Amino acid sequence: MTAEKGGYDHFMLKEIYEQPKAYRDTMRGRVSEDGKSVTLSELSMTPEQIRAFRRVHIVACGTAMHAGMVGKTIIEQLARLPVETDVASEYRYRSPIITPDTLVIVVSQSGETADTLAALREAKRCGARVLAITNVVGSSVAREADDTIVTLAGPEIAVASTKAYTSQLIAFYLFGLYLAQTLGTRDEAFVANMLAAMQALPEQVERILAQAETIKEIADAIAHNRSLFFIGRGVDYAVALEGSLKLKEISYIHSEAYAAGELKHGTLALIEEGVPVIALLTQEELFEKTISNIKETKARGANVLGIYNEGQEAEVAKSVDSQFAIPRTLPLLTPALSVVPLQLLSYYASLALGHDVDKPRNLAKSVTVE
Ligand code: G6P
Repeated sequence: MTAEKGGYDHFMLKEIYEQPKAYRDTMRGRVSEDGKSVTLSELSMTPEQIRAFRRVHIVACGTAMHAGMVGKTIIEQLARLPVETDVASEYRYRSPIITPDTLVIVVSQSGETADTLAALREAKRCGARVLAITNVVGSSVAREADDTIVTLAGPEIAVASTKAYTSQLIAFYLFGLYLAQTLGTRDEAFVANMLAAMQALPEQVERILAQAETIKEIADAIAHNRSLFFIGRGVDYAVALEGSLKLKEISYIHSEAYAAGELKHGTLALIEEGVPVIALLTQEELFEKTISNIKETKARGANVLGIYNEGQEAEVAKSVDSQFAIPRTLPLLTPALSVVPLQLLSYYASLALGHDVDKPRNLAKSVTVE
């Protein structure tokens, strides 16, 4: 069993450490030799069909849905198409407005999740084109979609998804750029610059992983709290949701993720002396706003961990109790880095509490019943 885990204590830890490889494998062959464009030769949708899309729906469950929330921002920013993201179990029953000029993207690691598959079928019934982002070639979702982008994360065994999530982000970056270059919403220099930044991500993840010990110390310190909060704005909010889900899944600590600006509309009432708040601050233009939200929590006694871009140590130090810097990248790409310390945090918190990291209670790797 240890051999299967490649010398790691748990599959989850192994899979966290496999992320640099998963990023490289998912990008390999999909970036032109000169690094200036995305080539998704697996797609059968034509440029004319792409130009006809008027809206995009992203539908998924759990962690894949959180990747879809980042996907919404990616596609809106790069392709300027309106995007809605929904959980599959809601989408299928709310009579969504699906038209033939809607592109429906279903995201599923396993490609077998019952609600996601049902949403795909509903989308097809309404005449939409369906693109699947999945980790399993030949899965039900891959077979039934019109197009598939396969994430090359390799098999994911731990129930808590890590490398599948980040590979889904890579797939969204590639597809967003592909839309942008087809629609002409971004020029060649922009695409080349973003692709260069993406190529740097695997090595940047390695630099984060090299600091796992720092995260372990923070996890040991917070593991015995009853409740904690994650806050962020923009894509940081989407990552906060994923960080919170990860922690709940394997450590069973109650946590909530909040859009930082929403705190004052209710959640602030729950902040009292010693409550941990994990604040993501990777979005330059929202930095000051998030700092003022942090101060609101600190004024009520919160114990704040700040996750921010390298180089801002001095500004962050004034407002937080502990801090963790991620390497510098483009604002849109930070989720592919900032989620990694959160994955490690939940792993070490679960370990500190003596839980079964790879097989948390009540949860299954793939939910094939409704
Ligand atoms: C289960 C797993 C989650 C996963 C979700 C969706 O709940 O425990 O980790 O995110 O299903 O799975 P999928 O295979 O569709 O991505």
